[in-house]
Amino acid sequence: MITIKNSAQIAKMREAGALLHDVLTQLKGKIEPGITTKELDRFAEKLIRAHGAVPSFLNYEGYPASICTSVDSQVVHGIPSNQTVLREGQIVSIDAGVILDGWQSDSALTVPVGRISEEAQRLIDVTEQSFFAALEVAREGNRISDIGHAVQQYVESRSFSTVRALCGHGIGREMHEDPSVPNYGIPGHGVRLRRGMTICIEPMIAAGDYHVKTLSDGWTVVTTDGSLCSHYEHTIAITDGEPELLSLPGYHKEEKR
Ligand code: MF3
Ligand code: CO
Repeated sequence: MITIKNSAQIAKMREAGALLHDVLTQLKGKIEPGITTKELDRFAEKLIRAHGAVPSFLNYEGYPASICTSVDSQVVHGIPSNQTVLREGQIVSIDAGVILDGWQSDSALTVPVGRISEEAQRLIDVTEQSFFAALEVAREGNRISDIGHAVQQYVESRSFSTVRALCGHGIGREMHEDPSVPNYGIPGHGVRLRRGMTICIEPMIAAGDYHVKTLSDGWTVVTTDGSLCSHYEHTIAITDGEPELLSLPGYHKEEKR
C-alpha cells in the first residue's frame, strides 16, 4: 500500500532525515585505513540512540547490526565485523536507517578509504550523479519507472551497469513501503508520482556486470563477477514542485550538495 503523508508527517520525516544525515556525515569522517566496520557500527548505534532514535536495521528480519558496511564488490547488506579492517584503496558503502518518533529515514553513500583508483572514484561519482539524474524526474505526474529509466540511461551511457535484483522503495512509518523503485526500466510505466509520497531512490552501480548473489551469511550481496560496486541513497518527498531531499538537509537543486 502506498501511503501519502501530510505536511506534519513529512516534517517528522525531515527530522529523522536530518539526524540520519548527521550520523552518516560523522561516519564518513571516521573512514580511514585501519578502522574496522564493527567500530563504525558501534559508533552509529550510540549516536542514533543518543538522539532518542532507534537504528531501524538492527533486528530487521534478523539483521544483526545497526548499519550495513559493504566493501568493494559487496553491493549492499555487508555486516559490520571486528574482522573487517578497512584498507587503503578500498571503497565502502555505508547504509543506515533511523526511526525518530515513529518515522523512518534511510540513506547510504559510498566512501573512499584513503587514496583510491581513478576508476573507483569515477564509479562513486557516477553513482551519486545517477541519483541526481533520477531526482530530475521525481515529480508529481511522472511515473515510477521514469526514475529507473533515468538511472539506467545515466549509468549505461558511462559504461557502468545498474543492479536489477534490488530496488528502492516507499518509506514512512515502515522502512519498506510500496511502491518498489527499480533502478532500470522503460519510461512511462508504474504508479504515478503524487505529492506526499515519500520514497527512497537508491542506485547500486557496478563497474562490471549487474548480476549479484548473496553470500552464505544470508545477507551480504556481492557482484557475481567480483567487480566494484557503489551505492547511494536518499529518502525524498514528492511535492508539487522540486522533490525534497529529506535525508540531505539544506539541499537546493543548483548547488548539487
Ligand atoms: N537500507 C536498506 C534498504 O534500502 C535496508 C537494509 S536491510 C537491513 O532497503 F536488514 F539491513 F535492515
Ligand atoms: Co533503502
